[in-house]
Amino acid sequence: MTTPTTPASGGKLTFAVPKGRILDEALPVMARAGIVPDPAFHDKANRSLSFDCDAAQSAWDMRIIRVRAFDVATFVAHGAAQVGIVGSDVIEEFDYDDLYAPVDLDIGHCRLSVARLAGDEQAENGASHLRVATKYPNLTRRHFEAAGVQAECVKLNGAMELAPSLGLSRRIVDLVSTGNTLKQNGLVETSRILDISARLIVNRAALKTDTRIAQLVDAFRRDAEARRAAASGSAEQNTRSSSASGSAEQDAA
Ligand code: PRP
Repeated sequence: MTTPTTPASGGKLTFAVPKGRILDEALPVMARAGIVPDPAFHDKANRSLSFDCDAAQSAWDMRIIRVRAFDVATFVAHGAAQVGIVGSDVIEEFDYDDLYAPVDLDIGHCRLSVARLAGDEQAENGASHLRVATKYPNLTRRHFEAAGVQAECVKLNGAMELAPSLGLSRRIVDLVSTGNTLKQNGLVETSRILDISARLIVNRAALKTDTRIAQLVDAFRRDAEARRAAASGSAEQNTRSSSASGSAEQDAA
């Protein structure tokens, strides 16, 4: 793959963020790393796809692009964006050599699972070939292959949950978070392929040639470590206070 070694247009770095659910959790993380998009980014009527940073609130002068999650990986792998945030599902599905995912941001937690219609018990029994609707053909084939089943993937870009009831496929492989979408469409989860969280991704060549990328990685890594330390500190605190209240109850008994 040919990778630009310097960012296009005037040396500004480009940061790719995904549309959709991860974004709400990603924006505060980006802000703590010094990246705050211009107010136009939040204006739903604005059809721009590329935004500046808010100069008053940002430590960086960067371009921020908002694209589909799969395209975040593609822009960064090709060096058209140097940095981005994307779910580990997308990283695993593409397996791009030029992508490096140095920081687990510990946000956007969900899972990639196999599901079928609740009444379709037969689907479990010894099939050597199954049709599966999914956005993730590579991960799906790999998962079923390991169980000796050949998966014929029907590529859909959304609303996978419709496929079994309309006879398009026996199974689906899709993201599950609360499980509400499966439930409301009469589906049950049969196995979990991957636990997912959002990662900071960088273009490998840009990391080697541009010192700003390493500084950005450090800023995101420090923030993720601080959040983990705070979370484990408060878990420890809770354990201590519940065992303290436990002994108070025993004392009172
Ligand atoms: C995702 C996923 C499921 C749903 C699962 O879709 O594809 O449909 O979320 O979430 P739940 O378990 O909390 O119900 P999303 O809403 O992100 O839209 P998309 O279909 O455009 O990917």
